[in-house]
Amino acid sequence: MYYQTAEPFKIKVVEQIKKSTKRERQQWLKEAGYNAFRLKAEQVYIDCITDSGTSAMSDKQWAAMMIGDESYAGCKSFYNLETSVQDVFGMPYVQPTHQGRAADYIMTRIYAKPKKYAIGNMHFDTFRGNAEVLGALPVDYVVDEGLNSVGNTGYPFKGNIDLNKMQNLINEKGAENISVVIVTVTCNNNGGQPVSMQNLREVSKLAKKYNIPVVIDSARLAENAYFIKTREKGYENKSIKEITREMFSYCETATMSSKKDGLVNIGGLFVTKNKDVFAMANQLAIVHEGFITYGGMSGRDMEALAVGLQEATSEDYLEYRIQQVKYLGDQLLKRNVPIIEPTGGHGVYVDGRRFFENIPQCEFPSQRLVVAMFEEAGVRCVELGACAFGSKDSDGNPIWPALELMRIALPRRVYTNSHLDVIANVCGDIYKNRNSFSGLKLVYEGPITALRHFTAGFELL
Ligand SMILES: Cc1ncc(COP(=O)(O)O)c(C=O)c1O
Repeated sequence: MYYQTAEPFKIKVVEQIKKSTKRERQQWLKEAGYNAFRLKAEQVYIDCITDSGTSAMSDKQWAAMMIGDESYAGCKSFYNLETSVQDVFGMPYVQPTHQGRAADYIMTRIYAKPKKYAIGNMHFDTFRGNAEVLGALPVDYVVDEGLNSVGNTGYPFKGNIDLNKMQNLINEKGAENISVVIVTVTCNNNGGQPVSMQNLREVSKLAKKYNIPVVIDSARLAENAYFIKTREKGYENKSIKEITREMFSYCETATMSSKKDGLVNIGGLFVTKNKDVFAMANQLAIVHEGFITYGGMSGRDMEALAVGLQEATSEDYLEYRIQQVKYLGDQLLKRNVPIIEPTGGHGVYVDGRRFFENIPQCEFPSQRLVVAMFEEAGVRCVELGACAFGSKDSDGNPIWPALELMRIALPRRVYTNSHLDVIANVCGDIYKNRNSFSGLKLVYEGPITALRHFTAGFELL
């Protein structure tokens, strides 16, 4: 019997969370326009709106912050970060940014082109927003299995890019009209689903044939590497860092929101093998972020990230992390809640369409579930469905997305399994009473459709 299966850490500092009444929560929801992003964090009992920037840092990270070098140019903390990044990515040139979307912005400016296609598995919304502003054409070519939210077909890498779809677009539009391929690891939008090493290799080979650069959006690089280690033949005996380095051998450039697998509360990275691209990224960083050796990060934050990257690539940590997500998934399945299976790396994704079969997509079923989770228990989740991914055709008619999900994102090293039991219980009870709920009406969205979920306002129907 192997006994050492508990969390690979013990708790040294705690943060109080407040309980509230249902009546209070109903009032707060009304004031927030039934949009969880507009709630105050102190109104929330268990906060699963995101795994981004919400990690608990270790004692070693807090200690490292004390030695942060805040010099404007050439600070020691940058070189510590650079060494750690080179170790994990196996790539030479490192430009820090204040967070992932700033790296996205720099990457978009360098790689995306107006009226040209950017192929992705599923582009993250900050790239999509950047692309929309630039007039580039992002297309999502995740494998069909990645869009299947019903049951567990046993498909292990639902984040893979469909090579046939990629080849067809090249044939149809010509390689010169495709400016970049961006692979997001893990694929956030369909459940934190991993991308296999074989897929990265094949995408890279196909792109190289047509001289199209490949970028990896690597916010969750360590979780992806753990899935490769545990699910892909030939990688079971490789270390996590051997795997991450091989992953990045298949791209020219990587962007990272360090707020995920960097185990820090703020920070981003633009990492590349291409010296000319690096020089351009340096210039864009100077204009928009900060000098090359800090790019919008403080010295202490760079120190914390240098340590966080090492901790996130530790196997004990990753085993705990992935198992905790699976634990929540199993608890929900026991209560018959329809979720995406297998569970991915950073949260559990509930299928809003199958959950509220009586609420049509135009009435935002997943958002309705977000509202119910908060109203009943103060648990805050996020919609990734009709509001977040809905778009419009040139006549302004709505286009509804293939996936209709509510994400229960799990902050890293923050909640215990008792918190997860609360989430499973409330979600299970709402599911039992699902026929008593009706949908929502969108009454405000903001100027950029791709970003409307952050600012939207709803009314209960
Ligand atoms: C895959 C992916 N890319 C980019 C970003 C943007 O990063 P940030 O929030 O640090 O700006 C995120 C954030 O959630 C993400 O999940």
